[in-house]
Amino acid sequence: MNRIAKLLGVMALAVPLGAMTGLATAAEQAAAKADPAKGETLYTQGVPDRNVPACFSCHGTAGNSSAAVNPKLAGQMADYTHKQLVDFKAKSRDNPIMSLYASALTDQDMRDIGAYLAKQQLKPATAKNKETIEQGQKIYRGGIAAKGIPACAGCHGPTGAGIPAQYPRIGGQYSEYTEAQLVGFRQGTRKNNSVMSTIAARMSDAEIKAVADYVAGVR
Ligand code: HEC
Ligand code: HEC
Repeated sequence: MNRIAKLLGVMALAVPLGAMTGLATAAEQAAAKADPAKGETLYTQGVPDRNVPACFSCHGTAGNSSAAVNPKLAGQMADYTHKQLVDFKAKSRDNPIMSLYASALTDQDMRDIGAYLAKQQLKPATAKNKETIEQGQKIYRGGIAAKGIPACAGCHGPTGAGIPAQYPRIGGQYSEYTEAQLVGFRQGTRKNNSVMSTIAARMSDAEIKAVADYVAGVR
């Protein structure tokens, strides 16, 4: 591994741009190989010598958090989980807890954790508010044309399972967390996706609450 990496480094200096692009792709593919077994160890034990606590202490056994403040991670797409950890580290998604932990993880750690979580079975949350469920469903399936809000289902899928690898799963997530993310996108504390920022900026508190509750129950 090391020798190949060094070799690639040396070659990259010597070869013209076209060939370099080819090499970068090969290097990216090598890095993209993720090991779910290593991911499980990281998830269940953390990295004690880098002060990273076990993820399961907040996110629950196999990614099924039992506290609404901590999102469920089970069954999420590996690429999305990887991207969030990268973004926490870079603080384009700034969260005091997660940005601290992510800053102590390597890119490979992040890929391994993503691969592990993608294989876990989600135990979904449920919707709680009968009064807003219809409004939430309408927004989810059809958007709000008058405000230029597109249907969530168009990207996150009719059952909330997402569309690999660009659009994350959101179905079955705690409504409190989904609401907090939409508010974060709207006020700019979460600025790692411009589409979601634009959408959330057009939504009222009541619309956010209604769709977040619907999303918790969508299957
Ligand atoms: C002390 C509790 C705590 C620990 C320990 C913890 N997290 Fe988190 N994590 C959170 C909270 C709270 C959030 C929500 C942050 C926000 O609102 O943006 C979160 C968010 C996340 C997200 C984003 C989920 C999404 O749907 O976008 C990922 C991925 C994540 N954590 C992975 C990890 C991993 C991997 C570890 C272990 C290395 C870990 N977390 C350890 C509390 C924790
Ligand atoms: C054009 C595509 C698109 C549409 C339409 C869309 N989303 Fe998203 N959404 C995304 C993408 C891409 C992400 C991932 C952002 C990132 O990389 O951090 C995302 C992320 C999210 C997240 C964060 C998930 C998490 O685990 O933290 C929530 C919540 C969300 N969207 C809710 C909604 C809702 C509700 C609607 C409808 C009002 C909607 N989205 C419409 C593309 C879309």
